Amino acid sequence: MPLREARVGILTHALHYGTGVFEGIRAHWDEPAQELFIMRPQEHYERWKQNCGILRIDVPFSPEQLCGITLELMRRNAFRTNVYVRPIAYKSAERIGVATDDQDAWAVVALPFGDYLHSEKGLHAGVSSWRRIEDNAIPARAKICGAYVNSALASDEVRRNGFDEAIFLNQNGHVAEGATCNIFMVRKGKLITPSVTENVLEGITRDSIIELAHRELSMQVVERPIGRSELYQCDELFLTGTAVGIAPIVRVDHRPVRDGAIGPIARQLQQSYFDATRGHLRAYRKWLLPVYQGQHSPAMDAIHLAETSVA
Ligand SMILES: Cc1ncc(COP(=O)(O)O)c(C=O)c1O
Repeated sequence: MPLREARVGILTHALHYGTGVFEGIRAHWDEPAQELFIMRPQEHYERWKQNCGILRIDVPFSPEQLCGITLELMRRNAFRTNVYVRPIAYKSAERIGVATDDQDAWAVVALPFGDYLHSEKGLHAGVSSWRRIEDNAIPARAKICGAYVNSALASDEVRRNGFDEAIFLNQNGHVAEGATCNIFMVRKGKLITPSVTENVLEGITRDSIIELAHRELSMQVVERPIGRSELYQCDELFLTGTAVGIAPIVRVDHRPVRDGAIGPIARQLQQSYFDATRGHLRAYRKWLLPVYQGQHSPAMDAIHLAETSVA
């Protein structure tokens, strides 16, 4: 349906209590191939369904069917530009009271979308005074709507203080991630990122970068706790995420990262990621779902199945 017709009621449970789970998926337009490539939709929908399980929200379609619905959405919009896809599932009962019931609803929205952060010259990041939410309070790995109050507080704080983006420490004082992205550091020749038990979202871009670093740069990524002061002594620092892509940090807390210029590893990974997401590298075509070729694919069958069930 047209976006302006998609409405929720003022008493919707998720609006008051944050009881929704969302995803963020990108599709990249490749001008030479005249093709739109959706990036790792299967993994995004698998993660979404798993995360919905944490809040006991039921999305009654398989990841394959959801990929089919997303393809259909792209084709009906006839997008010929970069696109952001926002699936959201939520507790939809319209009443007062925090206890949840089995009334769930979901939607998938697709919008033309450019750069999320302008990081061509590198970002100035600031460590936020807000700590990352703890797994036993609200799981950061679950992309729960209410959890993003934590990200909003940190982003707002550091932006008002003149920085471009926030870096969270977790309750142990270790570096966790950005407000909406994971973080990588290059130090003593090693590429390092916090492990998935450090109260971070298990990013799909993070996973892609680990594979690209290994295959393209022959670098093994080390997953370990990162101390705050390591940020001030490292050789390179960058953020990764569906919205931000790979965003190099050139200053952190008013200190230059090495010489204050974008480092060679971030640059190489940016190039490889760009090529991989536009279908230029055969080895990573496995990540991509092309929108306009193969109109009679199994995915189309999934669309018809989904439409029949919705009807
Ligand atoms: C808090 C947080 N960390 C990390 C990420 C990066 O995850 P992904 O690469 O799957 O987009 C996101 C974005 O979804 C996020 O919101």
